[in-house]
Amino acid sequence: MITTEAWAIKRQDVEFPSKKITLVEFSFSEITDEEILVEPLFGCWEGNMEHAVNRSPIDLCVQRNEDQVVIGNAGVVRILQVGNSIKDVYEGDVGILFCNGVPDEYGYPKLIFGYDAPNTIGVLSKKTKLKRNQFIPISSNSQAPLPQWAAFSLRYITAWANWRVAFNSWRLQNQDVDPGSAYAVAWGGGVSLAELELAKNQGFKTIMITSMPERIALLAKKGIKSIDRSTFSKENYEQDLISSVMAHTDGKGANIFIDNIGSSFQSTLKVLARQGVITTSGWRSNMIFPLIRSSECINRHTHIFTHYAHYQEGLNAVEYAIQNDWFPVVPEKIYGWEEIPQLLEDYSKGELKNYFPIFAVN
Ligand SMILES: NC(=O)c1ccc[n+]([C@@H]2O[C@H](COP(=O)([O-])OP(=O)(O)OC[C@H]3O[C@@H](n4cnc5c(N)ncnc54)[C@H](OP(=O)(O)O)[C@@H]3O)[C@@H](O)[C@H]2O)c1
Repeated sequence: MITTEAWAIKRQDVEFPSKKITLVEFSFSEITDEEILVEPLFGCWEGNMEHAVNRSPIDLCVQRNEDQVVIGNAGVVRILQVGNSIKDVYEGDVGILFCNGVPDEYGYPKLIFGYDAPNTIGVLSKKTKLKRNQFIPISSNSQAPLPQWAAFSLRYITAWANWRVAFNSWRLQNQDVDPGSAYAVAWGGGVSLAELELAKNQGFKTIMITSMPERIALLAKKGIKSIDRSTFSKENYEQDLISSVMAHTDGKGANIFIDNIGSSFQSTLKVLARQGVITTSGWRSNMIFPLIRSSECINRHTHIFTHYAHYQEGLNAVEYAIQNDWFPVVPEKIYGWEEIPQLLEDYSKGELKNYFPIFAVN
């Protein structure tokens, strides 16, 4: 057995209070021939980790039928030991966690490692074990620091896979349209930002809706226009959203709208141009998405839903990032191992200005 330390969530009816994360010592079995033992170096705090601690929309302990769950599905790890059947990665190799926990027969994830895949141990542990295809080596020609790769591993790969489907779907109905004349608009966090960077690289005019001045400054540096949603009035939120998106898009609306939030789905559909694509991989504020089907048909709107990525999409995203310098900007402040509860609190309060909160594990 391997004994290590981790931050865990526990069944609410066991010994810990709910909505807390607690430092525990625990043991897991030695690796099989098909597994690798790793030590996480850096992790990135993700929306799903807050969902998990809040036991919403699901309680992972109940869903996985486990008394204790260690979450964490974004990070950089170093290999400590390799199973006998694995011949292409070695002790000491550093790479990103690829968190496809249980793939379907075509390779797309049904369950996520360090989240809802049973018996997986996330990167909030000093040691964990992976299957070979849950590890993507970082090649020696990468100049990016490891915290950037930690931030990349979930949000950027999700973005790559979601944008691939969204863009190609848009192209299907807009074969002769120059992306330079089209608008990609988003709100949300790091996944949306990463998609807008891809959109920009393909020539789209890009706009991000945000509520923070620090993010407006970052977006300007990246050449992405912004709309400040903190100026929207509570009483006329939808009207303010619609008029500002229309004003920024020459009255045409968004050709592709990236909505991982879902809080105002009717509003995002109202700002979608004809033959437009609304695309999502997240459900931060709302899971239900009712539609007026006739309007959606008449407007020829395409709706895209994706969930993380196929392993080949992960490899392609990594390759593209190295060749095109497509990386997240990470904060100077890196939370230490003991500061994980503080990180959870800061993230939950919405106080973090950066899109990619990083923590150190080993
Ligand atoms: N399916 C997958 O594979 C997958 C992968 C990654 C993430 N996700 C999910 O996708 C969602 C977004 O994740 P993320 O990592 O990009 O972002 P995130 O870290 O969850 O950040 C969310 C940001 O969205 C903005 N926001 C919050 N509430 C809003 C509202 N009501 N209206 C408009 N904007 C709002 C805020 O930014 P401003 O204050 O700047 O506006 C906030 O910082 C989460 O639910 C996450 O779990 C899914």
